[in-house]
Amino acid sequence: MTEPITDQLGSGELLDSGQRKLEWARQHMPIMAALREDFAAEQPFAGERIGMAMHVEAKTAILTELLAIGGAEVAITGCNPLSTHDDVSVALDAIDGVTSYARRGVDDDEYYEAIEAVIAHEPTITIDDGGDLVFAIHEDYPELIDGIIGGCEETTTGVHRLRAMDADGALEYPMFAVNDTPMKRLFDNIHGTGESSLSNIAMTTNLSWAGKTVVVAGFGHCGKGVARKASGQNGDVVVTEVEPRRALEAHMEGYDVKPMAEAAAEGNVFITTTGNRDVIRGEHFEAMDDGVLLANAGHFDVEIDLDALSDLAVDTYETRDGVQAYELADGRRLNVLAQGRLVNLASPISMGHPVEVMDQSFGVQAVGARELVENGEAYEPGVHDLPDELDREVAEIKLAAEGVEFDDLTETQAEYMDSWQHGT
Ligand code: NAI
Repeated sequence: MTEPITDQLGSGELLDSGQRKLEWARQHMPIMAALREDFAAEQPFAGERIGMAMHVEAKTAILTELLAIGGAEVAITGCNPLSTHDDVSVALDAIDGVTSYARRGVDDDEYYEAIEAVIAHEPTITIDDGGDLVFAIHEDYPELIDGIIGGCEETTTGVHRLRAMDADGALEYPMFAVNDTPMKRLFDNIHGTGESSLSNIAMTTNLSWAGKTVVVAGFGHCGKGVARKASGQNGDVVVTEVEPRRALEAHMEGYDVKPMAEAAAEGNVFITTTGNRDVIRGEHFEAMDDGVLLANAGHFDVEIDLDALSDLAVDTYETRDGVQAYELADGRRLNVLAQGRLVNLASPISMGHPVEVMDQSFGVQAVGARELVENGEAYEPGVHDLPDELDREVAEIKLAAEGVEFDDLTETQAEYMDSWQHGT
């Protein structure tokens, strides 16, 4: 059984460095600060055990700390073998009421053993990013389901997975689709993924965007952000899509839209954001230029078909920290970042989304968890939208913290908006 991280790595310098990262994040997360005050006073999670599988970096630590301050006993592990910051994990483990099992660079067995260690705490609430924790509970520990009030899911791929479970009648407790709220998706997926993916690729490679042809696969929320930021950095953006309205939207936004088979021959940098698999595959690698960069920003490491690339390669080596070169028989080198895992979270120097963005996403997570303890019995097993007033609550906290004032509807306006009698 996996030991808590401090038993594996000790504390010392890691603790100090982790605590400094937490303090920096804490200073820039006003929503977490406001909720911390409320939760400390109200203790909404007293007696609850919260199990989490998330990217264990500084912002996640502030959410975890908040839940513990609100009275929960929290056990946490990573949701990706490469995204954990060990120092943050150690600092988390030192917080009262928190046990962290997350460690960077674990293999598949260790990854799932750490999830089992979290499950051994018998959570009453689960918070997931990608669905691995919920899935493991349903698959291997169904006897715990009766004791679980519900859970929250952070990302698009996790929500897809849950909806598929729900459609099969296999999801046995209520889950909030935190990803689908405006306060999460319109900021985190679009701006967060755009900013953090591009900055990580630039820092990892020390290369410029200017003059590059940047192929963005998928023009969903993440793809829109990546395309917009790449364009803002003077890259020429090409979009690939499989959904006609999204393709049209990209076209109307002024991007070049074409099939990957054509884009492959033109791109200098490829960024996948589809939540799908084999988006860049053998036939595409065959067409690519020497020196291209291949990065994935979607949840799982299946968007770039690395098995096919390995089959084509005559040699492979780490050409730079976080960059693996695959050399083809004719000498072309195709460079894969972060082993094809989330480039903004799994690169050696990556830090995930900007702090301010995660303050919003985690604000939604926190009020979602609070809703489960307050009104959990109102939700049947299945995937649920978070009540809109909770999302608005988080937006209002943020606007107040930013000193932004906005209008209220007048009574006449509110009545007008609700009426159907007024016509021409
Ligand atoms: P979305 O559903 O809004 O967009 C995905 C788009 O990809 C859709 O327009 C879809 O038509 C398109 N697509 C699917 N298969 C394709 C293919 N073969 N070729 C081209 N386009 C294809 O989803 P969203 O919110 O943009 O999320 C995308 C992925 O990114 C998910 O896996 C999600 O979990 C992950 N994600 C990653 C984040 C990060 O920090 N890197 C943050 C948030 C989400």
